[in-house]
Amino acid sequence: MIINNVACIGVGTIGHSWATLFAVKGCNVSIYDVNIEVSQNSLKNIKASAAFLAEMGLIERKVAETAPDKIRITEDLSECVAKADYIQESTFESYDVKQKVFLEIDRINSDAIIASSTSGLLMSKIQKNAAKPERCIVAHPWNPPLLLRLVELVPGETTSQQTIRKTYEFMKDLGKIPVIVKREIPGFIGNRLQAALWREALSIIENGIATVEDVDRVICAGPGARWAIMGPFLTFHLGGGPGGIEYLIDNIQQSMSEWYNSMDDWKSIPYHAARKAIEEVKQLPKTKEKTFKELTEWRDKKLVKVLRIQEDSNHEDGPVAQHG
Ligand SMILES: NC(=O)c1ccc[n+]([C@@H]2O[C@H](COP(=O)([O-])OP(=O)(O)OC[C@H]3O[C@@H](n4cnc5c(N)ncnc54)[C@H](O)[C@@H]3O)[C@@H](O)[C@H]2O)c1
Repeated sequence: MIINNVACIGVGTIGHSWATLFAVKGCNVSIYDVNIEVSQNSLKNIKASAAFLAEMGLIERKVAETAPDKIRITEDLSECVAKADYIQESTFESYDVKQKVFLEIDRINSDAIIASSTSGLLMSKIQKNAAKPERCIVAHPWNPPLLLRLVELVPGETTSQQTIRKTYEFMKDLGKIPVIVKREIPGFIGNRLQAALWREALSIIENGIATVEDVDRVICAGPGARWAIMGPFLTFHLGGGPGGIEYLIDNIQQSMSEWYNSMDDWKSIPYHAARKAIEEVKQLPKTKEKTFKELTEWRDKKLVKVLRIQEDSNHEDGPVAQHG
């Protein structure tokens, strides 16, 4: 490990999952959350997540048992970051909140890398007033960071090459698959793609073309099953038969123009579409039958199976290897 001492600022959904990963990989992890109840609860969540990894055979039982000893919870931000070499910020998705946290860290620790979990904010804006902006970078995980290996590294205008390199190496040490985004853009890569798909999903609901349940079914039974092992480009290459992607583009582009021309191009989510989606999601059999906790446990067990299949299809870079 090129980094041993990590601080996690904000330990909600994403932060506590990061903290578990850092701890099971052997790092000393200090935790701070502005909400004391959340930080106190995080230890229970971290123990449960580590036990889950052991139950799934992803880590040794002994590692799960000792991981909580690596965690130190503090109610003082200064104490949390003072000795850290790497700081993972996972607070609210707001420039205001993140800029203030970065400035507070500046006053106490001047050497550590500060990485933000932001889903799509620009590092150039977050690091704008920082004393040492060169040490600030986006390290955007996918939920749950404990299982999904992708991390998008997005430097801001003043992030140094050294910060990019060291963060990349640390992520590799953790078993992650880091992808460096070449040019900073809101939403980075994964969330831009996700947002494009979700706009059309909402439009389909709003226009009465299908239900929420059927849109989810279409994704899981169709494209989603393929996306677990290959991205959209390789998928289309195979869709073209022996003529590959060239044949496919030649043959589908006219038809696809008609699809594009009939699509909504909303720039924000219309209120009515959002309400409709929320109401229908609440009525899904799974959300009615299971509590939120049961649903996340169900998702994580299924995800481990998917990750194992991915590992089989690409042995060296297999996602389960994050814990191997
Ligand atoms: N939820 C996801 O699927 C997901 C995925 C990838 C990245 N992210 C990003 O990760 C970050 C955290 O998201 P989340 O889903 O964990 O949110 P969350 O609301 O579950 O957790 C955020 C935590 O930050 C704490 N917090 C807020 N201000 C703080 C401050 N000034 N100092 C210390 N703690 C503070 C809150 O008390 C809360 O516990 C966001 O930037 C989000 O966009 C979320």
